[in-house]
Amino acid sequence: MELVNKVALVTGGSSGIGRETAKLFAAEGAKVAIADIDTTGGLSLLEEIKNSGGDAMFCTCDVSNESQVQDWITNVVNQWQHIDILVANAGILAIGSLEEASNLDWDKVLGTNVKGYAFCAKYAIPHIRKRGGGAIVNVASIAALIAFPGFALYNTTKGAVLQLTRSLAHDLATENIRVNCVCPGVIETFQTQQFADWQGLTKEEVINQLAATVPMKRIGKPQEVAQAILFLASEKASYITATSLVIDGGYTVQ
Ligand SMILES: NC(=O)c1ccc[n+]([C@@H]2O[C@H](COP(=O)([O-])OP(=O)(O)OC[C@H]3O[C@@H](n4cnc5c(N)ncnc54)[C@H](O)[C@@H]3O)[C@@H](O)[C@H]2O)c1
Repeated sequence: MELVNKVALVTGGSSGIGRETAKLFAAEGAKVAIADIDTTGGLSLLEEIKNSGGDAMFCTCDVSNESQVQDWITNVVNQWQHIDILVANAGILAIGSLEEASNLDWDKVLGTNVKGYAFCAKYAIPHIRKRGGGAIVNVASIAALIAFPGFALYNTTKGAVLQLTRSLAHDLATENIRVNCVCPGVIETFQTQQFADWQGLTKEEVINQLAATVPMKRIGKPQEVAQAILFLASEKASYITATSLVIDGGYTVQ
């Protein structure tokens, strides 16, 4: 097991990529602290992990709210004494062009997709430092590397996550705190349904349509992203920092 005696924070753990990451980390021996605004999904995950013999705690927490993030991390340390790993994953899909976006839209997407990642790092880093090192894995997107048409807000926030990753990696390199990000391509999660609704298509239609655009001719599974996050969080990646690992079935080669 890769993560025995580790305490890992996972945001956005109630669904999709975060949920699979939390389950995988627990199976690898970590104590997993999950934060999400979706309490029902979080509590069902908690039960699933505990039924499989894992150790986890859940907290309802909006990552765009700094004081909620601070309280969550304080609670985790009160319960488990330390933190080794942060997976900042909670994010929202903002669909629509710049001209359609209101100030409120910007506040919401920047709050979750950028400030949320920064707040979690801000309050986790002092505890990871006390352990003499650890790892942060940010879930960015291939939207950090290419610009999806009609997704100006989302693309912008994911580009910011990439630069946040690189900045923190540089700042923390001498302290043995590695900071990396994953850049998933099209992955089947709740966001796929949101995209289908926007297109006026069924989920199946949209999956087929998207799969045709990928060199591997299929979209990815959240479990496939979770495995990449595990690698970057584990000692197997001990000399890897400031990198972005693309998990996209070849999408960005085109
Ligand atoms: N699905 C994809 O194709 C894809 C591709 C690239 C990147 N991503 C990124 O992966 C991450 C996870 O997305 P997913 O596809 O698993 O989607 P998802 O909607 O299944 O999961 C996102 C989770 O984040 C939670 N969340 C949203 N806002 C929050 C907030 N303010 N505070 C706390 N929790 C919050 C949601 O409740 C949900 O449980 C996101 O950052 C997303 O941008 C997804």
